[in-house]
Amino acid sequence: MIGIAIDGPSGAGKSTIAKALAKEFGYIYVDTGAIYRTVGLYMYRNGISTEDTEGIVNNLSAVKVELKYVDGEQRMFLLGEDVSDLIRTPLIAKYASVVSAVPKVREFLFDMQRSLAKENNVIMDGRDIGTVILPDADVKIFLTASAEARAERRVAQLAEKGEVVGFDEILASIKERDERDSGRDVAPLKPADDAITLDSSDLTLEESIAAAKNIVNEKLLKNS
Ligand code: DC
Repeated sequence: MIGIAIDGPSGAGKSTIAKALAKEFGYIYVDTGAIYRTVGLYMYRNGISTEDTEGIVNNLSAVKVELKYVDGEQRMFLLGEDVSDLIRTPLIAKYASVVSAVPKVREFLFDMQRSLAKENNVIMDGRDIGTVILPDADVKIFLTASAEARAERRVAQLAEKGEVVGFDEILASIKERDERDSGRDVAPLKPADDAITLDSSDLTLEESIAAAKNIVNEKLLKNS
């Protein structure tokens, strides 16, 4: 099986680029952030505070997370309920970021991610795919962009939806999340030694996709 890992900070365009690559190469796309978000949603719904690490750990065994493909799209199920849309809120993003810093949570989700890659050709995006989940991935891309570039894109995305949010506010929340994701002790966000870094700050989406495709093609050719 072929495994392609795409790691990087939030808002760098990982999911859009990974989806485009998955389509191009005919692999399945796995958004691992959605798995952490689903665990976060469970904790939120059960009134567990983001400060309560012990509560998070004690409740883990009751969390039943499933990842399924419906019409080719990844959907997340929590105790049998499709929560794919409910996990896309800033509050659940915060919960996801908090639960993902708990080592027991990462352990709990490890096998699920590994086995997906064992059974399928995958493009997996996350924070620790190239370093922890798929250390032997055929291709590892670390996709990054400056916090300012990511904040600008986010403001534009929200504006398209008719939501007006200030640049400074978005930039501050991006930086806060970066810090939490990079500064944690367990599986911090960092490029694997053998990852190729792609900085998309000054690239359009099309250019980023083209650059990522080139990296994959070159790597797979070299390995074959
Ligand atoms: O990519 P995202 O915003 O959906 O991720 C949600 C949170 O989960 C983010 O704060 C980082 C964390 N995460 C992680 O720790 N490891 C992963 N492989 C994927 C996401």
